[in-house]
Amino acid sequence: MNPTRGAQGHFARVAAVYDFVRNTDPDVVEEIVAHLPHRTDRLEIADVGCGTGRYSSVVAAHLNGNLRMWCCDFSLAMLQECRKRMDENYPGRPFRYSRVSANCMPFANDALDAVVSFNAVHHFDLERFVGESARSLRPGGLLAVYTRTPWQNSRTIWGQHFPGFNQYEGRLYPRERMERAIRNVPSLQLENIREFMHHRTEPTESLLDRARNFHYSTFSLYPPEEFTRALAEFALRVHSIGNGKIEHSAENTLILARRTEATSFETDVSP
Ligand SMILES: C[S@@+](CC[C@H](N)C(=O)[O-])C[C@H]1O[C@@H](n2cnc3c(N)ncnc32)[C@H](O)[C@@H]1O
Repeated sequence: MNPTRGAQGHFARVAAVYDFVRNTDPDVVEEIVAHLPHRTDRLEIADVGCGTGRYSSVVAAHLNGNLRMWCCDFSLAMLQECRKRMDENYPGRPFRYSRVSANCMPFANDALDAVVSFNAVHHFDLERFVGESARSLRPGGLLAVYTRTPWQNSRTIWGQHFPGFNQYEGRLYPRERMERAIRNVPSLQLENIREFMHHRTEPTESLLDRARNFHYSTFSLYPPEEFTRALAEFALRVHSIGNGKIEHSAENTLILARRTEATSFETDVSP
């Protein structure tokens, strides 16, 4: 059994290095901030599946501290890294830390101005998370989900060249499923869906290191021997297409939904 298997174990293992092995896309945050409700007092925002808080901190920086940000994650190790980051970089900022599951959030009805989630929704029970978000949002509040669809995943450098990557990564939600989950909640209205493409150039060796060190949870889903074979095949392929450096692109989807005036009592979050 691969010791890194299972989401909790995976994130406990990568928490300390997570910020160094992921790219943060600031244009996505700009788009979300442009859709936030306007308030004269501070905004109440939850970042669900916040990890080390790399996106929570960018959102907070945009709002100049005029918010209370609930950093929510079920991994204690990730939350500890998150707290360290905020204490070091944003002293006095109004961050709160909550070890919770996205499927059952601790907020009162109509309590939040926004629920945001980056690169995490595929770990959640989608319908429960959407229902919980709708319940927790005030009328006019925003739900923002940034993720990758299976189609987009298949077009990454991993999806194209790492054997088995698309088969093992069976957790991502197709765009239609996410749209349906939102449409099925009477108190939510789909507001916008935008696709992003980011071009990256990086040394072939650093790409390989990300796989060797299991920096994506997908790798933890392989049986060990199969992973070793797939990694060797991937190394051959990327060495043959790059000259020490690899240019590749990553596509993601941002889904925005708005809490309507309808009562959140209509939202059924039971299975
Ligand atoms: C791929 S990381 C993304 C972290 C962060 N949003 C980012 O983009 O850097 C996914 C995060 O979701 C958390 N997570 C997974 N399942 C969860 C759940 N059911 N409830 C809350 N957090 C969860 C993991 O612990 C991890 O920190």
